[in-house]
Amino acid sequence: MADGGRPPGQPRVVLGVSGGIAAYKAVEVCRRLVDAGVHVVPVLTRAATRFVGEATFSALASEPVQRSLWDEASPIPHTRLGQQADLVLVAPATADLIGRYAAGLASDLLTATLLATRAPVVLCPAMHTEMWEHPAVQENLRTLGRRGVRVVPPGEGRLAGGDSGAGRLADPATIAAVALEILGVRGEAAGVDLAGHLDLAGHLDLAGRRVVVSAGGTREPLDPVRYLGNRSSGKQGHALAEAAARRGADVTLVTASSLPLSTASPVRRVAVGSAAEMEEALAAVAPQADVVVMAAAVADFRPKAPSDRKLVKEDGVPEVVLEPTPDILAGLATRRPAGQVLVGFAAETHDVLARGWAKLERKGVDLLVVNDVTAPGAGFEHDTNQVVILERGGRVTEVPLRSKDAVADVVFDRVIARLSEGGEERKRP
Ligand code: PMT
Repeated sequence: MADGGRPPGQPRVVLGVSGGIAAYKAVEVCRRLVDAGVHVVPVLTRAATRFVGEATFSALASEPVQRSLWDEASPIPHTRLGQQADLVLVAPATADLIGRYAAGLASDLLTATLLATRAPVVLCPAMHTEMWEHPAVQENLRTLGRRGVRVVPPGEGRLAGGDSGAGRLADPATIAAVALEILGVRGEAAGVDLAGHLDLAGHLDLAGRRVVVSAGGTREPLDPVRYLGNRSSGKQGHALAEAAARRGADVTLVTASSLPLSTASPVRRVAVGSAAEMEEALAAVAPQADVVVMAAAVADFRPKAPSDRKLVKEDGVPEVVLEPTPDILAGLATRRPAGQVLVGFAAETHDVLARGWAKLERKGVDLLVVNDVTAPGAGFEHDTNQVVILERGGRVTEVPLRSKDAVADVVFDRVIARLSEGGEERKRP
């Protein structure tokens, strides 16, 4: 047996619980880890014990609750806990805990353990929306992200006191699955889609930012059963939304695609059909966004007078008169708030760069991601894409054929560069 009666090779997790209402959900995380064969040592802050009883954790965990730097027989419990851990998981992580950890304070057993460990650390923040969005909290998380700390971002939902919004602790099943994945323990992790939760280290560079992404091909009704559509699957737009969420952004995806998001995704999804619906949905969310990315393939034309009855053969071949749809992107550009970075996409088949530069000007965007949709493996429906990112000011970034996830990350690398330069207001000549 290894230390504490632990079989050799059994992974050991320090489960830190700080003082928020979501502390009761850590009980479920604890149970899931123990059920998966993990040795769990609960470390509660003093505030945590106001929300959940020590006895509950002690009954479920592999060892009794640890709470204080001073009440163990061993004089340096934090060193032992930190050194022996294969993972330190903090759920919930309050704004206070995150702040103390980022500042390098070791004022209680949990923060001392966090500083004393070389094991991977995962924080699962939970707090009220205003606190979650506060620049101090986001800056602290960015600092910790740069140091390799991973974050399972909170979701949206009901919060303490009847409020609702961002800041709700991630689902305990997801938290446990992230921990098991990092520990290499299969089983419970299988079946939980962890895209967006495992490669956060150092990349929370969109934390505190609101990002809106559009995706998919709009459907313009011809009659109640038919529509004019296009070949967009939504894959590129959904990859962009998930990439932004992975990097810590608060993401709204306005999508005309039925493609699913990963099960644990914190992305807020707004389903639309036609260009008009997409325009309305974007008008509601774009004004509050720091970044808007239009990856949707919006129809340029729609039937002028869709029939309210099914068109039937007996009535002969219908004559369909088309009318232009609104240019959503150009409209967003004229109404955008100061500092917002606006990104368009362009699906081209010829004169790709010349048409791209002209489109960047015409639409009034900061960045235009041009894809030659005739190139093998690029554009519609593929899992891969090959793009050139054109920027106001003349910068060009070529992205060779790679996954749509990877393309999305390069797009956000350039978006972040623009954000830190102050966005459109300062870039326009
Ligand atoms: O969805 P996938 O199968 O993954 O394919 C990805 C993609 C090829 C659809 C994507 O990479 C892409 O290129 N999207 C933009 C397609 C497009 O509509 O391009 P465009 O050149 O027609 O339009 C230029 C820009 O104006 C786009 O940002 C578009 O969203 C916007 N637009 C276009 C028409 C319109 N009425 N309103 C708009 O806002």
